Amino acid sequence: MKRLLLGLVATALAVALPLPAYAGGKTPDDLRELSQKLKVYMGSAVDVTALAGEADYRKVLNREFTHVTAENAMKWESVEPQRGVYTWDGADAVVKNAQRNRQNVRGHTLVWHNQLPAWLTAGVADGSIDAKALRKILREHIMTEVGRYRGKIRAWDVVNEIVDDDGNRRQSIWLTNLGPDYIADAFRWAHQADPHAKLYLNDYNLEWNTAKINTTLNIIKDLKAKRVPINGIGFQGHLGIQYDYPGDFPNVMRQFTDLGLEAAITEADVRMVLPVTPEKLATQADYYQRMLSTCVDNGHCVEFTVWGYTDRHSWVPGWFDGEGSACVMDENLAPKPAYKALLSVRRK
Ligand code: XIL
Repeated sequence: MKRLLLGLVATALAVALPLPAYAGGKTPDDLRELSQKLKVYMGSAVDVTALAGEADYRKVLNREFTHVTAENAMKWESVEPQRGVYTWDGADAVVKNAQRNRQNVRGHTLVWHNQLPAWLTAGVADGSIDAKALRKILREHIMTEVGRYRGKIRAWDVVNEIVDDDGNRRQSIWLTNLGPDYIADAFRWAHQADPHAKLYLNDYNLEWNTAKINTTLNIIKDLKAKRVPINGIGFQGHLGIQYDYPGDFPNVMRQFTDLGLEAAITEADVRMVLPVTPEKLATQADYYQRMLSTCVDNGHCVEFTVWGYTDRHSWVPGWFDGEGSACVMDENLAPKPAYKALLSVRRK
């Protein structure tokens, strides 16, 4: 209710005091034009099945976006489902389509605790892959994947979700078998395989979770002190309107960019408890707009990527019971209020 009232007050003000033309000029026609105007890459996660099979999905993706991330196709289980058997079809398709459509690519992701191939997790569990072998496998994985796309990936999510919500380092197979140095190793190997790619640490809830923020800042300071090649910080940006907007996000992003990193919002979506109402869509639009503004106003944030641009292909309904409608376009690829809200963002 409070939010609704604020919304009404804002609308009333906007009517009384129309923004003068010099504040922003003409509203961009689409996100690609917005991207050029803001000098921030506007990205989307890509569903490879839809990319191959749905002409309308492909058309809108290529019209609207200047950056893409494979939603699943570059994850370890996708590229090496059996030991030593690589399947690059999906990942190649994303990169080729991007090149044809003047889109940069975010590589996602090299070191993660999820979506690992069964041969790897089983081998670690039954002891047939010991710590020494595991380190070799990780090096090989990074060198092979980063090497394959050398020169074609603007930025890699080298490590993903390495701190848990309590602010402890995540107890993954990487930490428990290799110790904390696996992080520095991963960045060094990735840099060796593609010296020009920007190398990122990526995480969720990093917009607001103080314990996670502080541990992550310390990890980055430590890496920098050791001259480990880390270039960027990725905020996933998975929000929900049933929670307050993380109002401290601009300061949090600043704390990271003050360390000399570039920033990106890498997986933005704003989910809601169903059913959808116009009020919820208005709140969602506000959240999207504030996230993009945070990126634009920071000055070191170079990319704003949504985790899927259409509700037709969104991970939210499958992962959050009773929630959905998290994207900026609906199932029919019609723009929602959030899309228009993004188009209205300007540099200060
Ligand atoms: C999700 C995908 O969207 C789903 O299709 C898949 O089943 C699970 O992973 N953080 C990440 C992403 O870094 O890789 C996750 O993507 C969403 C959360």
